[in-house]
Amino acid sequence: MNIIIADSYRQLSDTAAEIVANQIKNKPDTVLGLATGSSPLGLYDALAKMCEDGKIDFSRVRTVNLDEYVGLAPDHPQSYRYFMDKNLFDRINIRREMTKVPDGLASDTDAFCKDYDSYIDSLGGIDLQVLGIGPDGHIGFNEPDGHFTAATHVAELDPSTVDANSRFFESRDEVPKTAITMGMRAIMQAKKILLIAPGKAKKEILFKALEGDITPRIPASVLQLHRDVTVIYSDENR
Ligand code: F6R
Repeated sequence: MNIIIADSYRQLSDTAAEIVANQIKNKPDTVLGLATGSSPLGLYDALAKMCEDGKIDFSRVRTVNLDEYVGLAPDHPQSYRYFMDKNLFDRINIRREMTKVPDGLASDTDAFCKDYDSYIDSLGGIDLQVLGIGPDGHIGFNEPDGHFTAATHVAELDPSTVDANSRFFESRDEVPKTAITMGMRAIMQAKKILLIAPGKAKKEILFKALEGDITPRIPASVLQLHRDVTVIYSDENR
């Protein structure tokens, strides 16, 4: 595992953007796994800037996102589809049909989850997966549990996750309590993983996940078993 301690959030984001840009230069039809939340915002700004400056070409890149709230329409301002369009996809030269975010309105979620995994498989898996880490150690919305869940599935959000995410909603009651999340199989089968963790609040859980026991009670701890993980931490938050 490659652990990078950045001096600032800006440096964390620029370092992460270099890693993504190199990946795309080496493989123009890269399959990128993407995360939402505040951690990757600086990364997405840096990628948008590189694209504007002609330093990176997304025309052949395919993306798959980790998760989406159940019940939120793609145009809901708190949906992850809306987040991705606004913070990245609308700012780069990627075609919308090359971007996938789980469908929060899928009527048959079980069938949707199976199809999502089949889609990822049909792309040959993920080349580079970007991850954040939640306060309880979640990755995607793989929450602490008695076991790891391999497949894409509907997850009940941990109360600490609902609390953390309520900052984006008018009230805690409005935060959806379930989400579709990529499971551990697609994440762990990614050829490379890039975990970005800005802010002192992430330090303790990050340390437990990377140095402690491998346990589904701290889902990110499974990353210790992956052969190519880069972690970028900065004391400074976004
Ligand atoms: C979001 C996701 C989550 C976040 C995590 C950290 O797509 O997969 O696991 O990465 O909740 O969120 P932030 O970055 O807002 O601290």
